[in-house]
Amino acid sequence: MSISVFRTPTELVTGIGSIAHIGEKAKKLGATKVLVLTDKVLKQTGLVDKAVTPLTQAGLPVHVIDEIMQEPPFENLEQLASQVRGRGYDVFVGIGGGSVLDVTKALSIMMTNTGDVRDLVGIDKVANKGVPFILVPTTSGTGSEVTCNAIFTDTRDQVKKGIVSPYLLPDVAIVDPELTVTVPPSVTAATGMDAFVHAVESYTAIRANELTDAIALHAIKLVSRSLRQAVYQGHDLKAREDMAMGSLLAGISLGNAGVGAVHALAYPLGGKFKVPHGVANSLLLPYVMKYNVVSNIPKFAEVARAMGENVDGLSLRDAAMQAVHAIAKLSCDVGIPASIRDVGVTEEDIPALAAEASKIDRLLNNNPRWLTAADIETIYRESFAGKLFLE
Ligand SMILES: [Fe+2]
Repeated sequence: MSISVFRTPTELVTGIGSIAHIGEKAKKLGATKVLVLTDKVLKQTGLVDKAVTPLTQAGLPVHVIDEIMQEPPFENLEQLASQVRGRGYDVFVGIGGGSVLDVTKALSIMMTNTGDVRDLVGIDKVANKGVPFILVPTTSGTGSEVTCNAIFTDTRDQVKKGIVSPYLLPDVAIVDPELTVTVPPSVTAATGMDAFVHAVESYTAIRANELTDAIALHAIKLVSRSLRQAVYQGHDLKAREDMAMGSLLAGISLGNAGVGAVHALAYPLGGKFKVPHGVANSLLLPYVMKYNVVSNIPKFAEVARAMGENVDGLSLRDAAMQAVHAIAKLSCDVGIPASIRDVGVTEEDIPALAAEASKIDRLLNNNPRWLTAADIETIYRESFAGKLFLE
């Protein structure tokens, strides 16, 4: 085993009702004035009050900003930063889905690092730690609360760009499954499949190690057994609990082992076609996995086992292929479209998508099997044909 570094937030608070502890956690971080960041939908549903009430009860003045956009552009960050600077907020709280969490992470470091935020794009470009912050996910999927990444849209070229820094790990993450029970089925499906992709991609990634393997396999097990239930019986707290924990574990694994070609091929669909991140990943996962299977048959066979597939009596190779089909079924069962055609991609778009994806070396270099631009194009074409869903 080669040398690896394992990172998580300083403190992870999990379980039903854990949000009630946010006040004391903020105080421990030295809070005297708290800024809560969220989006308009969460504010309207009243979910934000689940964080604001215990903060206020702890005697802390709280201000809420709900202007965070979905798939946030850098302009959204700049506008928010100018609103927040100089106001004396000493702890930030981000409560919401991946977009809200990513914006909170970036705003924290923008308070203590000067210059254009775009200059922070890339790996380890952030010089100073930011304002202390607490992240509270309200969907089970992105894993943003436990990763060093924050992703934004550059409106100049419609490409998603990432800031990667250990300073983007929160001081505290609070993962309360109860906050996710009202998430609608389509969002539960998309975010849940994103978590599943994080688990599978990090488990089979070049940078995987024994720590991340153990975590990722358990995430695969939890998501496989409970995603359908969480989508169709949203109030089933046990299923929501499995998804919250599965997503958290998948995020920790992704944060340390990274992801690969599924994410690389999914990003251009998000940028140009505005396909939600989890849907884009889910559309591509079975096809990238089919391509990757030969690179590590024993590991892909383990994926099938962790998914609860009966692989007794099968060769390792057949067991590995069973994982590919089980994933296609899971994606189909939760209502994800069967083909990239269904999200507006035409055959003529494929070469440009492949050219865009082939530039994302950061992810492609971590994929267990090397891909040329032609391989990437073939995978998009297979997803376009929706082959695996016809078999
Ligand atoms: Fe993802």
